[in-house]
Amino acid sequence: MTTTSNLTVSSPNIKYTDDYIFSQYEYQETLVDTVDNKLVAKPYSTSLSIRTDRRVGKVGVMLVGWGGNNGSTFTAAVIANREKLTWNTKDGEMDSNWYGSITQASTVRLGIDERGMDVYVAMSQLLPMVDPNDLVIDGWDISPMNLADAMVRAKVIDYDLQQKLRKKMQTMKPRPAIYDPDFIAANQADRALNLIRGTRHEQYLQIRADIKDFRDKNNLDKVIVLWTANTERFCEVTPGVHDTAENLQKALQQNVSEVSPSTIFAMAAVDEGQCKAHGSLIPECLKPVSIVSYNHLGNNDGKNLSAPKQFRSKEITKSNVVDDMVEANRLLYSEGEKPDHVVVIKYVPYVGDSKRAMDEYTSKILLHGTNTIAVHNTCEDSLLATPLILDLLLLAELFTRVSFRRDESEEWSPMHAVLSSLAYLLKAPLVPAGAPVVNALFKQRANIENLLRACLSLPPLHHLQLEHKVPFLMKELRSGAMFESPPKKQKLSHQNGDH
Ligand SMILES: NC(=O)c1ccc[n+]([C@@H]2O[C@H](COP(=O)([O-])OP(=O)(O)OC[C@H]3O[C@@H](n4cnc5c(N)ncnc54)[C@H](O)[C@@H]3O)[C@@H](O)[C@H]2O)c1
Repeated sequence: MTTTSNLTVSSPNIKYTDDYIFSQYEYQETLVDTVDNKLVAKPYSTSLSIRTDRRVGKVGVMLVGWGGNNGSTFTAAVIANREKLTWNTKDGEMDSNWYGSITQASTVRLGIDERGMDVYVAMSQLLPMVDPNDLVIDGWDISPMNLADAMVRAKVIDYDLQQKLRKKMQTMKPRPAIYDPDFIAANQADRALNLIRGTRHEQYLQIRADIKDFRDKNNLDKVIVLWTANTERFCEVTPGVHDTAENLQKALQQNVSEVSPSTIFAMAAVDEGQCKAHGSLIPECLKPVSIVSYNHLGNNDGKNLSAPKQFRSKEITKSNVVDDMVEANRLLYSEGEKPDHVVVIKYVPYVGDSKRAMDEYTSKILLHGTNTIAVHNTCEDSLLATPLILDLLLLAELFTRVSFRRDESEEWSPMHAVLSSLAYLLKAPLVPAGAPVVNALFKQRANIENLLRACLSLPPLHHLQLEHKVPFLMKELRSGAMFESPPKKQKLSHQNGDH
């Protein structure tokens, strides 16, 4: 199965074959040295070949925590969209959509038309991506409830739509999962009835067998395993246990208790050759000095987070989001200085899946004045999270088909296994060891758009709009000359000052 986009790039730097899109790309950076306390900036440029495999194949998704609010809502949304279901509510007839998904419901600026106006395309049109309608879904849960009952338990989907989905979802039953009461909250014990027994190594082997079984039964080319189970407590990262693949394997064999269920799922997914996806809006030149976030929610996620150790994990992931903003601006923050950042999460069963978040940002402004922004956000949490799950799956799958090399003598190199480009969709993004964590939303979004553009040999979006600002370029646009000139072959041109 191959999805093709209806976009063609016309350029000597791009070649389409039946199986691949080859892009010649000039990667440019600015290298900065500090010499005698002075900054010296030097442009850097390197020519890359980027290859995108156009064969999407048949893709399966295995959710860990399938029977939860996110898992059941994701499954309901895929089926509802696939079958173009409509349903009645007191506000009239509703239809299915993917609002909230960047791949399905957002556009990327492609370029300008002959009048100099922006032209946008759906992100999913840029490169061949899995069509959500083609996803095959399976998963694990410590609760044995079938997906139809899990959807009722979640109280997220409208009643009339539940009725239309019931038959299909009733036959979907989560596979037994790994439960360790030391890692998720003790208050989850009453639903832990669907379990893989045995040692950690035996559990690992069972998860691998599950992935293989799912792949074989459905003739899948690829399986993506995604964690959407409850937040685990932080694991003690111990040298000799968690630091290398060999040590982790050894620890698994020896049934070491600090190997968490999520680690076992991750190891099984990696060893089975599959892809695993785990899972701030601050004005840049004000100086945030205090960020306080009160949240309350009443779904099972809230119940799990009401336990101190699991809350601590969430608190850390939420708190880290301002670190790079602070790091990036030494004009505002001196070494070691940070805004106060406090996160409170309370469990209030009555509000169910409708999470309340009250965030207060206090900043210092000119001459030590104060600016306070208070945001009150009420949102149906799982309906916000579900499109992100879809985007994580589709983009992770796409990035497995993209590879790089510098010249023809080199092997094609895949992207690093830790796909930090997915940061836009995650609260505490993981990056390869030593790489900077980027939490700034604009940078994260630009990263995805520009990476997809690079695969098509299109330059990064710069928002300069010089054709609306520089008179001779304005003239060139208006006369039509801009559209007549043929695209140039990607090659370093003459040195500056040559002519
Ligand atoms: N916006 C967001 O980023 C966002 C929004 C909502 C939830 N979340 C996060 O997503 C996760 C899931 O949220 P939810 O609302 O679906 O919670 P949920 O409690 O409804 O679902 C989690 C499911 O995981 C199952 N589970 C727990 N441990 C397991 C294990 N070891 N193996 C297999 N299954 C296991 C539970 O039985 C449950 O069905 C949570 O970590 C939550 O914090 C994120």
